[in-house]
Order: sequence, then structure tokens, then C-alpha cells
Amino acid sequence: MTTNAKKTRVVIIGAGAVGSTTAYTLLLRNRMDELVLIDANHEKAVGDALDMNHGMPFLGGAKVWAGTYEDCREADIIIITAGAAQRDGETRVDLLKRNVAIFDSIVSRVMKVNSHGILLIASNPVDIMSYFSWKKSAWPVHRVIGSGTLLDSARFRYLIGDKLSIDPRSVHGHIIGEHGDSELPLWSLANVAGAEVKLTAEERDEIFLNTRDAAYQIISAKGATYYAIALALDRIVTAILRDEGAVLNVSTLLQDYHGVSNVFLGVPCVVDRTGVREVMDIPITEQEKELLHRSADKLKGLISSISS
Ligand code: 2OP
Repeated sequence: MTTNAKKTRVVIIGAGAVGSTTAYTLLLRNRMDELVLIDANHEKAVGDALDMNHGMPFLGGAKVWAGTYEDCREADIIIITAGAAQRDGETRVDLLKRNVAIFDSIVSRVMKVNSHGILLIASNPVDIMSYFSWKKSAWPVHRVIGSGTLLDSARFRYLIGDKLSIDPRSVHGHIIGEHGDSELPLWSLANVAGAEVKLTAEERDEIFLNTRDAAYQIISAKGATYYAIALALDRIVTAILRDEGAVLNVSTLLQDYHGVSNVFLGVPCVVDRTGVREVMDIPITEQEKELLHRSADKLKGLISSISS
């Protein structure tokens, strides 16, 4: 039977460790009809596409190819993972200048052919790269999404679950703010079945530090992080393509959010086919609010350093 139903297409720009792991994750979970890989090193994208296509007898489903920016024309979601990656001892912010220059060219090339899709940004520092992409694209803000603190919140839930011997899917917890050194935990909202998590102050500190510094630990051990971020990106793609209305801690533009405005930060958002449908209004304590402001001030300082 043939069908004229529009095929769903995801384009991934950047076939490095994060881009190819994300492609493989999306493919395994059968998330779309067409998957395009674009990389400055086209041969790498060609190799990845071949390697994944050779798995089709075991998977079926999607069509995968190494493409060009022209392939962004029909894309529903364009994921950008390209750019310089954090090396051992570097912070995410150290990547800023290099990645702004790379994004300047990538976003303009996408804009030439696509005006309807959703941009999903994963390159670091992700909150600033998302802000920059939004400004550069001039797209409605709900269609420019950063992976934000979704991964950090997953690490946080995993570590709490591990400590309590509870499945992390049954642990609710949120890390908000910068995806980076100034992020903060919302202990006031962390719960299992609505009950406050029973942890001492020392245990909470240890869990938060291990959450915040997880990427440093992994990069020092193996050079890069990619499996968990790929799953986080898969989660966001699924929420969009299935029009889920899922609450995910993605990076979006805040406007009078506990007094914070004009900066992209990770906070709980409702994500559906339109992108970020809504920023959730959540109760936070005065202390959490102060930390959120500090995180916002840090990022605003960095944003003005690139625009000046
Ligand atoms: C991570 O948190 C490096 O931002 C990347 O895994």
C-alpha cells in the first residue's frame, strides 16, 4: 500500500560522538522516516550512514543518508551537535567563541532553506548557543530549544535513585539554570511518589556535586560524553514528533521567570509538536531563586561578551 502521508525527517548537523550516537539512538527507537547526517567532514557522515544502513536488515524503517544543507528544507527537526567539544580540564564556557563562529555559518545555511522546523541545540555552552541560534534565526522562540538541564536532571534522578535503591524513573527531581557550573538543584521539589526524599544534608550535597561535575568525570575517564545526552535528545525529539506535551527541563527564553528575563536557561517546559508550548510555573524557595538569578547573571555576562 502506498501512502502520501508526509514523512518525518530529522537532520543532525555534526556527526561527532554526540551526533552519531544520537542518530543511532533515534534509529534504534524508530523515531522517524528519514534521518540525515551532515558534517563538515562529509566522509565521516558517509561512513556513519553506511554503517547504520548495513543494520537495516535487523531494524527496517528509516532511510538514512549523509546529506547537505539542502536536505534541511524538508526537516521537521534539525538537531545541532556540531562544534568544538570540551577537552579534559575545559569548562563548557571555554568553547563559546569557537562555537559561536561555527554556529553563525550553520544557522544561516539552515535558514536559507527551512523556515518551519524546530531547531534543537545540543552544542555547548548550550544555553548560549540556543540564545544565539534564536537571535540569528529570528524564528519564534518556541521553535528553538536547547537540551538544557534535561541530562543534568536525569543524572540527578539516577543518583538519588541509586542512593535510595529506587528506580530513577520513579524519582522526580529537577536541575535548573545553566547546563554547566552554575546550575542548581530544586531539592524543594524532589520527591518519590509525592514524598520528600529522605537524605541527609551531606548526602544531598554529594549527589548534587556528582550531578554538576558528572561531565568532567566522564571526559577525564574517556574523553567525551555521548550515550546519556543522546537519550536526552531522543526524549525531546519524541515529545515533539508525538505531540506529547511532556514536561522536560529544556533550555528556553525566560521572561519574568521568578524575576529572570532575556536569557535561555533550563527549566521545566511543556514540549509538543509546536516546540516549547509553555514554560511551567513552578514554586521555588527564596534560596533557589537567588541561585537561579546568579546562574542567569553569569550567562547574561557571557552573552554580552559575544555581542560586543
Ligand atoms: C555533558 O554534560 C558535556 O555537556 C556535556 O555530558
